[in-house]
Amino acid sequence: MKGIILAGGKATRLYPITRAVCKQLLPVYDKPMVYYPLSLLMLAGIKDILLISTPEALPRFKDLLGNGSEIGIKIRFAEQRTPRGIAQALTIAEGFIGKDKVCLVLGDNVFFGQGLSSLLKEAVRQKEGATIFGYYVNDPARYGVIGFDRKGGVSSIEEKPKRPKSNYVITGIYFYDHLACSIAKALKPSQRKEFEITDVNRYYLERGKLKVKLLGRGYAWLDMGTYESLMEASEFIKTMEQRQGVKVGCIEEVAYKKRYIDERQLRKLAKEIPTSYGDYLRRLLKNE
Ligand code: G1P
Repeated sequence: MKGIILAGGKATRLYPITRAVCKQLLPVYDKPMVYYPLSLLMLAGIKDILLISTPEALPRFKDLLGNGSEIGIKIRFAEQRTPRGIAQALTIAEGFIGKDKVCLVLGDNVFFGQGLSSLLKEAVRQKEGATIFGYYVNDPARYGVIGFDRKGGVSSIEEKPKRPKSNYVITGIYFYDHLACSIAKALKPSQRKEFEITDVNRYYLERGKLKVKLLGRGYAWLDMGTYESLMEASEFIKTMEQRQGVKVGCIEEVAYKKRYIDERQLRKLAKEIPTSYGDYLRRLLKNE
C-alpha cells in the first residue's frame, strides 16, 4: 500500500503566520506538524510515501525529510500548483499509486489513542473498497458529516451541511483500493469549486464498499486550521508527553520500534538534534 500526505493549501485562516511558512511545517509543541501524519502512516506499516505540497513549500519539506532513507522509508514529492480540493491529491498521485491501494492522510491532522495502530493495520489489510474514520465533534457543520439509518448503518455523507444529520464527522485519513484514482479523475468540482473527497467516499458508499469505523471517546482527533486549534494541539501534545514521558508523533522512534532503522542509525539521528528531543531518542537506546 502506498501513502500520501497532502500538505498544500494557503491556510489563509492562519494569516499572517502562514504567509511565508507552510502550515504543515509549523511547530506543534516540539516537532513540525507533518511529523504527526507521517508517523501515522509509518505506524500503519506504510513505507512508500508521496508528500504533496505547493511549489514554494516543497523545498522546505525536502530539507526536513530528505528522501526518507534516514528513517528507513521512501519519501517522494509532488507539486500541487493550485489547491483544488483533497480529492485532487489522488489525481496528482496517479502515477505513484499505479495499481496499488492507497492511504491518504491530511498533513494537519493529529490522531492519538490506544489501539490506533491496530485499527490502521486492519484498514491496510482490506482488499477492496474504502475505510474511513468517524469522530464525534461539537461542531459537525465544519466537516463531512455522517448520516445513519435506523440500524446504525451509514446512510449518507454530506460535506459541510447547514443542518448536520449527526455529530459524527469524517476525519482526515482515508484508505482506498486501486479504484480511487479513476473515481477522483471523474469528479466534477463542487459549489466551492473543489474536488471533494466526500464525493469519492460517497461513490464507495453507494456501491456498498465503504467501511466507516467510529473512533470512540478514548481517541483524540485534532485538525489545525485556526489559531485556537493550533494552540490547543500544542497544549495537548505537551500535556501527554510531559505526563507520560513518551513522545507522540516521533518519526525516529516509530522507525526504530518498527525496525526500519537500527541502533546505529538512531544514535546518529539523536546526535544531530541537540535538544531534549535528541535526549529522548538516546533514552530509547538505553531502555532496550
Ligand atoms: C476536509 C473534508 C471533510 C473532512 C475534513 C477533515 O475539510 O472535506 O470532509 O471532514 O477535511 O479534516 P476541509 O479541510 O476541506 O474543510
